[in-house]
Amino acid sequence: MRIDILTLFPDTVSAVLHESILGRAVKKGILQINCIQIRDYTENKQCQVDDYPYGGGWGCVMMAQPLKSCLDAVMETAPGRKSRVIYLSPQGKTFTQETAKRLRQDYDHLVLVCGHYEGVDERFIEKCVDEELSLGDFVLTGGEIAAMAITDSVCRLVPGVLSDEECYTGESHWDGLLEYPQYTRPDEWEGLEVPEVLRGGDHEKIQRWRRKQQLLRTMKKRPDLFEKLSLTEPSDLQLLEEIRKDALRPVLDQPLSYRQAVPEDLPALLTITADARAVLKKRGIDQWQGDYPNAEAFLYDMERGECWIAFHGEEPVGMFTLTTENAPGYDEITDGKWTPDISFCVVHRLAVSAAYRGTSVSAYLFRCADEVACSLGLRSIRVDTHKKNKSMKRALAENGYRYRGNIQVLIEPGHDPARQAFEKILK
Ligand SMILES: C[S@@+](CC[C@H](N)C(=O)[O-])C[C@H]1O[C@@H](n2cnc3c(N)ncnc32)[C@H](O)[C@@H]1O
Repeated sequence: MRIDILTLFPDTVSAVLHESILGRAVKKGILQINCIQIRDYTENKQCQVDDYPYGGGWGCVMMAQPLKSCLDAVMETAPGRKSRVIYLSPQGKTFTQETAKRLRQDYDHLVLVCGHYEGVDERFIEKCVDEELSLGDFVLTGGEIAAMAITDSVCRLVPGVLSDEECYTGESHWDGLLEYPQYTRPDEWEGLEVPEVLRGGDHEKIQRWRRKQQLLRTMKKRPDLFEKLSLTEPSDLQLLEEIRKDALRPVLDQPLSYRQAVPEDLPALLTITADARAVLKKRGIDQWQGDYPNAEAFLYDMERGECWIAFHGEEPVGMFTLTTENAPGYDEITDGKWTPDISFCVVHRLAVSAAYRGTSVSAYLFRCADEVACSLGLRSIRVDTHKKNKSMKRALAENGYRYRGNIQVLIEPGHDPARQAFEKILK
């Protein structure tokens, strides 16, 4: 790619464009960047490049002749090239990454004409310019900054200038999205940590996280760009659905706390139960689809000091029952076994209120159960769930529970009694 910049300040422009990455590419012969002094092509004794505007008004206008002579001289040295003459102007189409792609693909020679003062004689634009480009809807003193910006962004797309194509295809604006957030060492800086997923080394998870961040950032920072996207990939649609759900979740901006439930908490416990029942029903899971767990069960737990309720600020957000009584059906485990000779408790009725599903409340409830079990000097916690209850099984795995086998829980007459059993060994 060859770029010729017609300017009144060739030394300044050349110094900037021959630094760093572009400078190295010029040295390697991948790029040719020439900055040409327009003043050298004047035909008057004073080397004057501008004059007063016809019709009066402020400032001066660059004359057509020096510009045309300069352009002719440049074009004579570029026969057979696919050239494009571009005038940098606040009246041009706004330059974008798409423009950079197009210029890099369609031409191997760009001539960038920098105006100054009040601009250039309109007849030069009419006669000699193929296209006008603007850096944005504001006015600069001269076209040099725009020419440098355009040269930089077009040249970095030329093969060999950057070390790999991915250096620019993964960046903001390449496919209409902004780039994901980037981090480097150290892991923690001023109390802020690098997201865990980026340190885990799971490439697939990292890719997924990055794509989600791209969608999220574009949505938040540049809704105008986001509106123009037409996303059809199922993986993107899934991420958008996740983002939509995340947005509906409350922010945990108040402390979480828990305590033993008292009879006054019964309405809240029944509301959380109803939420969970509805979700299970929606997912086709035959668990909690009858009367169980009911007020009687909760009052029984409370009497024994085994029912716990959690709050976000003042709002009830979750519950669990922790009992040292062996639960019915737990002894007849098949396809596996419980850890032998270990003190244990059983956690039942662990649930999160509808509004807080998907937040860290569920992890908090598991931590609370660990704390209660440890305070009782117990070494393990047992729990069961329906085999189709995938979200509970995922939560159990994430919170240190391991599958132990199958059991039958006959507590809900007329409903599927098959349950999978899990256990967590406490440290
Ligand atoms: C002060 S400006 C002239 C503006 C002109 N009188 C007008 O109102 O349209 C001087 C030169 O700066 C350059 N320039 C100013 N704003 C620009 C922009 N947003 N993008 C590209 N070039 C710009 C053009 O080359 C222009 O000829």
